[in-house]
Amino acid sequence: MRNGRRQKIAILTGGGDCPGINAVIRAVTKKAILEHDMQVIGVQDGYDGLVADSHRVLTYDDVSGIITLGGTILGASKSANPYKYPVKVRGGIELRDVSRTAVRTVKRLGVSCLVCVGGDGTLGIAHRLFKDGVPVVGVPKTIDNDVRGTDITFGFDSAVSIATDGVDRIHTTAQSHHRIMIVEVMGHRAGWIALHSGIAGGGDVILVPEIPYDTEKIARWVKRRLSLGRRFTIVVAAEGARPRGGTEVIRKVVETSADPLRLGGVSFVLAEELESLTGLEARAVLMGHLQRGGPPTPFDRVLASQLGSAAVDLIAGRKFGRMVAVRAGEVTSAPLSVAAGGPRVIPRHHRLLETARSTGAYFGD
Ligand code: F6P
Repeated sequence: MRNGRRQKIAILTGGGDCPGINAVIRAVTKKAILEHDMQVIGVQDGYDGLVADSHRVLTYDDVSGIITLGGTILGASKSANPYKYPVKVRGGIELRDVSRTAVRTVKRLGVSCLVCVGGDGTLGIAHRLFKDGVPVVGVPKTIDNDVRGTDITFGFDSAVSIATDGVDRIHTTAQSHHRIMIVEVMGHRAGWIALHSGIAGGGDVILVPEIPYDTEKIARWVKRRLSLGRRFTIVVAAEGARPRGGTEVIRKVVETSADPLRLGGVSFVLAEELESLTGLEARAVLMGHLQRGGPPTPFDRVLASQLGSAAVDLIAGRKFGRMVAVRAGEVTSAPLSVAAGGPRVIPRHHRLLETARSTGAYFGD
């Protein structure tokens, strides 16, 4: 071991967690040690750890056996943005730019690169740090599958399989009680989880933020199903789904977060409206954070391992300011600035919208 002269890198996991993050931490750490004899430092709780100077060395043993674990062994934070950091002041909380402290921590650690694993918020901050002189490499993650510059994020497959399991289970009880059952899934302002789990679970109505719905039309659809002898209806609704001319249902505003709006509750609103418009019983089920928990699917484990490994290749090639990505089935990279450009929503003419419609699903439009 060339102590003192060994190249050091650091890794942090920001934003909401998702299944597969530990597989990335494992891949980055193992490859960095095995192929480059690097020392890997794990930053605690996302960007919080850079501001609070909280980190630890990750050894090969630390990351052995974690590929199956959900969550992140490093912890994460959704409100720790060094450029808008919540600082306690008399009379409340003030958002301040403490990025110089974060940059200082990176410099003092003597790392040649900071690997930031996160969604568009985390990667946007990584991009700013890069512009402020920090050598950064990004790894896109989120169950929402909405990061620009990559066709897919790890965590998404796991979330879709949990959401689909929910839809499958709801099917049987909907059938027994002849009810309208609305399954609300996550995804923030993108409808990817709803679209995929809606198709996979055979949802009768799929509501996505990209296609505003008309409640009266959904009610007429349900009644038509009834007239054809279909006595129950499964609605798969994205949390960001919104009525035509209306807005999404906001559950909570977290002022200290880089992305303050927490969505949720559209299923309950719809259930009430559909009950009164159809005279049928309606129930709502929120899949919520179940979609972010538990072990990653094999697909996500493989994807996360590939992306973690590719991130170390970017570091070795000194290709900073970029994130690893998947395009047309190949692992590649893209500038971090692309991810910072807001969420990747379902394009208007996406082939899966056509697949859903052609197999009988209705988008409420
Ligand atoms: O971005 C991941 C995600 O799970 C979204 O699907 C959801 O809108 C949001 O995070 C929930 O955030 P929180 O964990 O802060 O409730």
